[in-house]
Amino acid sequence: MHLPTPCGPVSSHVIESLSGRGTASAPATAGGGSVLTDRDAQLALWTTYELSFRGFEGVDPSREWDIGLIELRLALESRFEAELRAVTDERVVAGVSRDGDVGDLVLALVQDDDGPHLSSYLRRDATADQMRDYLRERSVQQLKESDPQAFLVPRLQGAAKVALAELQYDEFGAGTPSRLHQDMYARTLAAVGLEPAYGAYVDEVSAISLASANVMSMFALNRRLVAAGVGHFAAFEASSSVPSRRVSAGLDRLGLSAAAEYFDEHVEADAVHEQVAARDICGSVVREDPGLLGEVVFGVICALHLDALSGVELLTRFGAMDTPGTHAAAS
Ligand SMILES: [Fe+2]
Ligand SMILES: [Fe+2]
Repeated sequence: MHLPTPCGPVSSHVIESLSGRGTASAPATAGGGSVLTDRDAQLALWTTYELSFRGFEGVDPSREWDIGLIELRLALESRFEAELRAVTDERVVAGVSRDGDVGDLVLALVQDDDGPHLSSYLRRDATADQMRDYLRERSVQQLKESDPQAFLVPRLQGAAKVALAELQYDEFGAGTPSRLHQDMYARTLAAVGLEPAYGAYVDEVSAISLASANVMSMFALNRRLVAAGVGHFAAFEASSSVPSRRVSAGLDRLGLSAAAEYFDEHVEADAVHEQVAARDICGSVVREDPGLLGEVVFGVICALHLDALSGVELLTRFGAMDTPGTHAAAS
């Protein structure tokens, strides 16, 4: 993968430093603006994270541990996390106050979420170009599907570790390379005429799309956030099966059935995965340490919040925020 194209002072600093062209002193990262919607900050964060995933052509792999870049990453993460905590606080407090089984709680939080119904629009109304736009925006996270959560495995123990390994076995192809979910997504991109290479669209996707990928890396690469990581993962799995069915139907409607394999796989798989993730992973983590319930719920709400922001962004871009069925629960 090539280094991305900078889009502001923070990403310029990171990318110029990695390209070996040298750079001016590190930019201030302690400003008061939103990091979540700041494409420059999210691209800088994404680039520093990729040093721990697949790296970049021509960049020494040892730069993963570059003290200056790690300091910058921590400063950005600090603001990103604080912003996520502030914006989710009310829902997290309300979620934690609900009594009952942890698995039931996680699934109910997802079920009760009334965010924008992007998948209903994709099923019924999207044009082929809008469908491609959606697939392109999601590519930064789906082409590394389950990679961040692999970093959670050594941070868990007992039943939660076993359940995460079971779930990841499916995500990573269940022993068959052609069933690797991230490669299935690459085939979806190719089937609709998009570039399937990892990172191909990082220069085009929005701050929200980068943030949706980055939040998984932040939770997975910081051990103190492991419970938020499992909560996020469970919400991600639990909000996949029904939308996948709708996207698959939308692809069929558009004559793009060849691209539906990835979504068809997730209709069945995630109906099972959501149970494993909510009950066996989140449930076990909280049984082991009841004090982590708030962090699990924080991860769940972060996933729902980012998914809602992404849905609003795309529906607004499509001129469809007023389309019936894109606001409230839709079939
Ligand atoms: Fe998957
Ligand atoms: Fe899954």
